[in-house]
Amino acid sequence: MNKVSDIYILGIESSCDDTSIAVCRNNTVLSNVTANQKVHSLYGGVVPELASRAHQEHIVPVYQQALKDANVTLDDIDAIAYTHGPGLLGSLLVGCSFAKSLAMATGKKLIAINHMEAHILAHTAANNPDGNPQYPYLNLTVSGGHTQLVRVNNPSSFDLIGESIDDAAGEAFDKGAKTLGLPYPGGPHVDKIAKTGNPLAYKFPISNVGEFEFSFSGVKTSLLYFLQKETKNDPDFISNNLADICASYQHIIVQSLLQKVEYTADALNLSTICLSGGVSANSYLNQSIRELGTKKGWNIFIPPLNLCTDNGAMIALAGYQKYLQNDFSTIDASPKSRWKPGVSL
Ligand code: KG4
Ligand code: ZN
Repeated sequence: MNKVSDIYILGIESSCDDTSIAVCRNNTVLSNVTANQKVHSLYGGVVPELASRAHQEHIVPVYQQALKDANVTLDDIDAIAYTHGPGLLGSLLVGCSFAKSLAMATGKKLIAINHMEAHILAHTAANNPDGNPQYPYLNLTVSGGHTQLVRVNNPSSFDLIGESIDDAAGEAFDKGAKTLGLPYPGGPHVDKIAKTGNPLAYKFPISNVGEFEFSFSGVKTSLLYFLQKETKNDPDFISNNLADICASYQHIIVQSLLQKVEYTADALNLSTICLSGGVSANSYLNQSIRELGTKKGWNIFIPPLNLCTDNGAMIALAGYQKYLQNDFSTIDASPKSRWKPGVSL
């Protein structure tokens, strides 16, 4: 029997290349079903037109599986949350239209979610191994499209402190991996190969930018020039030294992230530090931030892997917070390709 106070939220995520739908009961994730799009690996990056088509193909079966896994029917759902932005417009339109159709057909409430806020609200899930952080905290969101430092005051108040002025950290991993001939998305491959390499074997530069900003386009270019130079002397340089190259490249990206986190945490006097987004799955970043946290006396929170990468559960969790605030959206709202956290619809 459902408790009268229980709220069931359907969460629909389609901002990039994963179609993911989840059901949450309050902050408990009951199901979280994701269809990955393999097609993009052929092109070494996401092809927007193909992503929209794949969402169209996947969205109904993923929705059906999400209800089934949660052991609920549409009747049980109290509100429908969907990613309203930021992301690829064609991809967002698929999830948005599907959510609106469900809301219109059932008369249920519709909740428009900011994808970057949802990455952060993955920290509100019940049963996360690190538990749930106390507010306020500093969140480093590191994904394929964004690198952001956000002061989180409460589940509906976000101050964007700084972000990358060019490539995102995930993009630096993926583009570097592509240069090394690794498949897309390259981040997990670099992570795995780097495990047997020496992070100090080669030195790549960190770009010097504003105090709360990041820049990752320089490191990607320095890898390219370094490889061009070395392969002139030794055509097998990459294959002979792949683990050391991956470890050194990963090291500089992680150092750059940690330097800014430490500086920002000190400047804002925050000691609860949270990671979110796909790159938080990186094992070297995980280990390094926990080591730094021990030295600094921080409380560190990293969500489980399935709540770090793009997923419907984080949309449902964000939807639950908005439901509690009575913050619903209208049927005529149109998705936004750009949308910073903390900015209202
Ligand atoms: O958050 P996410 O799933 O999607 C976006 O919103 O962008 O993040 C995807 C990014 C990709 O760039 C991917 O290479 C990176 O997360 N990523 C990793 C790892 N796992 C995923 N990067 C480094 N190490 C990993 N283990
Ligand atoms: Zn994301």
